[in-house]
Amino acid sequence: MKRYVLGISGASGSVYAVRVAKAIAEAGHELHLVFSAAGERVMIHETGMDGAAFMKDLGGSATGKIFRHESNDLFAPIASGSFRTDGMAIVPCSMAAVAAIAGGSGGDLLRRAADVHLKERRPLVVVFRETPLSSIHLRNLLVLSDTGALILPAAPAFYNKPTGMDDLVDFIAARVLSGLGMENDLIQEWGSGE
Ligand SMILES: Cc1cc2nc3c(=O)[nH]c(=O)nc-3n(C[C@H](O)[C@H](O)[C@H](O)COP(=O)(O)O)c2cc1C
Repeated sequence: MKRYVLGISGASGSVYAVRVAKAIAEAGHELHLVFSAAGERVMIHETGMDGAAFMKDLGGSATGKIFRHESNDLFAPIASGSFRTDGMAIVPCSMAAVAAIAGGSGGDLLRRAADVHLKERRPLVVVFRETPLSSIHLRNLLVLSDTGALILPAAPAFYNKPTGMDDLVDFIAARVLSGLGMENDLIQEWGSGE
């Protein structure tokens, strides 16, 4: 059993977070969830679920423990490097969060937990979603990459011939799970047959 942190910020693409959270919880791992304030609002807008409904939905199929932490709770375990985890993903990640994390300025619990993962040299997967990108965005992403984060744009591929939105979402979710070192079969490996 592993322990992962999932941060959900206010970029578009909450559906990616839903898929990643389900895969982690169904695999029996311990999951620590934190929404930014904007993250929960965007999830409500895009999926119709607030944080509580999301937790209920997750709980139905989870075999591992799931904890939700409030974004202003800087006393939560994930705010400290002494709380050992196997990695964190921010899905989706706003450019505001990218900037704050790259600047090391801390802030809410999501940003603090990301800071902790970088300083502890643990996996941090940053699924940013913005387009087009300014030079400021690009510089901030480079800072995070140079500091050890895996930069994973929410840009699904089409070479695997997706037949609907679920396939597009699974493509990104699979790459996030791989970035966290989690085996998964959400997508077929290229070259593995057909
Ligand atoms: C519906 C909606 C969609 C948004 N989509 C994005 C986005 O894709 N990328 C982004 O960087 N910001 C996006 N934003 C803006 C962020 O929510 C905003 O910058 C917010 O301050 C981010 O805060 P957070 O990093 O604490 O979540 C969106 C806002 C709304 C209301």
